[in-house]
Amino acid sequence: MAKAESQNDKALSELIDALNEDLAREYQAIIAYTVYSNVLSGAQWMNIAGELRKHAGEELQHALIIAYQIDYLGGMPTATPKTVKLSKKPEDMLRFDLENETETIRNYRQRVKQAEALGHYALAEQLRQIISQEQEHQHDLATALGIEVPKVFSQGA
Ligand SMILES: [Fe+2]
Ligand SMILES: [Fe+2]
Repeated sequence: MAKAESQNDKALSELIDALNEDLAREYQAIIAYTVYSNVLSGAQWMNIAGELRKHAGEELQHALIIAYQIDYLGGMPTATPKTVKLSKKPEDMLRFDLENETETIRNYRQRVKQAEALGHYALAEQLRQIISQEQEHQHDLATALGIEVPKVFSQGA
């Protein structure tokens, strides 16, 4: 029994640490979308700049949800974003965003499994809703770049 409890504690602390990585990625996304949406200039990029502004607001909502959940689980939400890459080329900025979204989705799919393994079904449900918005972001970026949405998953979530 004691052993099972300590395994549970270990899994919970791994979940909290991983959620803090997710939170740092959300901060990164807020910053990137805020900067990129203003730096993308030219008629060709006007529509996507408007999309990126919307993404920035959605990433803030994700950050608030993840920070709440970290606190709820007994952790301390991080205050440090992952590094935001800058470029003068619009295509580079969109590609950085697309790579980050793909990485974010990969991570959240893993997080759903971790949350469910611990019986945190409400958290898993919230993560699923976030994943579906991240997939829309990924789709918007791939469309703007004129490429296929990266297929990186061998399994669903
Ligand atoms: Fe997000
Ligand atoms: Fe996103």
